[in-house]
Amino acid sequence: MRSSFLIVANRLPVDRTITPDGTASWRRSPGGLVTAIAPVMQRRDGAWLGWHGAPDEELKPFEHDGMNLIPIPLSAGEVELYYEGFSNATLWPLYHDVVATPVYSRVLWDAYRAVNERFARAAADTAAENAVVWVQDYQLQLVPAMLRALRPDVRIGFFLHIPFPPAELFWQLPWRREILEGLLGADLVGFQRPGGASNFIRLCRRQLGLQNQRQEISYGERTVRAEAFPISVDFSELDTLVREPHIMARAKEIRAELGEPEHVLLGVDRLDYTKGIGQRLKAFGELLADKTVSPGEAVFVQIATPSRERVEEYRNLRDDIELRVGRLNGQYGVLGVPPINYFHQSYDRDELAALYCAADVMVVTPLRDGMNLVAKEYVACRHDLRGALVLSEFAGAADELKHAYLVNPWDVDGLKRQMVAAMRATPHELSRRMRSMRRRVATYDVDRWAGDFLAALER
Ligand code: ADP
Ligand code: G6P
Repeated sequence: MRSSFLIVANRLPVDRTITPDGTASWRRSPGGLVTAIAPVMQRRDGAWLGWHGAPDEELKPFEHDGMNLIPIPLSAGEVELYYEGFSNATLWPLYHDVVATPVYSRVLWDAYRAVNERFARAAADTAAENAVVWVQDYQLQLVPAMLRALRPDVRIGFFLHIPFPPAELFWQLPWRREILEGLLGADLVGFQRPGGASNFIRLCRRQLGLQNQRQEISYGERTVRAEAFPISVDFSELDTLVREPHIMARAKEIRAELGEPEHVLLGVDRLDYTKGIGQRLKAFGELLADKTVSPGEAVFVQIATPSRERVEEYRNLRDDIELRVGRLNGQYGVLGVPPINYFHQSYDRDELAALYCAADVMVVTPLRDGMNLVAKEYVACRHDLRGALVLSEFAGAADELKHAYLVNPWDVDGLKRQMVAAMRATPHELSRRMRSMRRRVATYDVDRWAGDFLAALER
């Protein structure tokens, strides 16, 4: 069956996992892309093409949670070269301010091109006449041009969920021209921040010699629009969820389990080197060391979802974080009261919502982040107008959440000061800040994001 609306993303919203006894089951895929696109897809007719998270397996299309899903297979070799390699060892660090060193390898590039071709062909086979095809994220930047070559009738949108880097960094990429030309296959290229759109336009001028009129780039016979659409969360779903008695009860229980500390600080991230987890632990450790807070008085809960575990940088990061947690707990903990509660696990929505409700201070300190939906989820969950958000200036969310306690995560003293300010704020101050942040997230929710993007694409 052909679809008139298609999402094309590296990942499907669910991951296939095989337990040791051989039974297969489905689990929600990690990350912000799935959090944002799933509600958009559930409210529209259409299909979602993506990889189902397991190598060397061909699966038939299926329905899940009100969505039509079309699995695209990847071989074990492609997972290594295209997904772990070019996507997550080349593009991911390059686009995040080279906080880790990108790997440039022709073998990885060849695999990236081949897999993008497969996604483009699958989209071309599935799209109905004049369909709208919305391609997602850095793993599939060649798909727009490849798809246009196969199906000139369809309307193509592309959205980049991560930052688009300044020209000075993008310039390093040996395949910079191919990536720009790939993206220019779309009618509309969306970015998280206006800076991403202007970086892209500047590169099109410099690398390809193209002309533009503000957001519109002239490209042969066509015009390609580059614009920012800050992504968001399903505000009303979260706001409704946290008013349910079982979530409120669980939040209370969490505080009790932590020993009823005065301050619960929380971090929730994929275990990724862009998230600044080490920086926030260092700051908290120094607050314990200089006795600004005592163990028992303040407890830090860090939830770190396993992510990209076969990529070397991620393995090193895990060792580094777990060493830090062990050291800090060893040095400052007292019997039964570790100052840091660390979990390398995924949680379901209810438990995560209860954790957000239980936390006095949400600490979000990425060194670079496209948006950071965790920050917006926390705001959406705090209808009680309590709770403080400590937020990195380097997250896209900082453009909108100006009433957060903004920090430069590289500045340990500044980070400590803002964490303390957040812990010591009066209820009046907290509610003033939270009310303003909630207004923003309630207005610019995920429906508004998708609606704005698709309306601009239709134009
Ligand atoms: P990224 O997309 O880089 O992972 P975001 O903050 O934008 O970062 O999105 C992360 C998403 O993953 C959020 O929706 C968050 O709720 C979810 N998430 C993060 N950690 C966990 C976890 N341990 N268990 C379940 N969901 C998680
Ligand atoms: C970020 C990326 C997504 C990706 C997610 C999880 O949000 O922008 O494209 O799906 O991280 O990463 P993973 O590698 O597990 O898909």
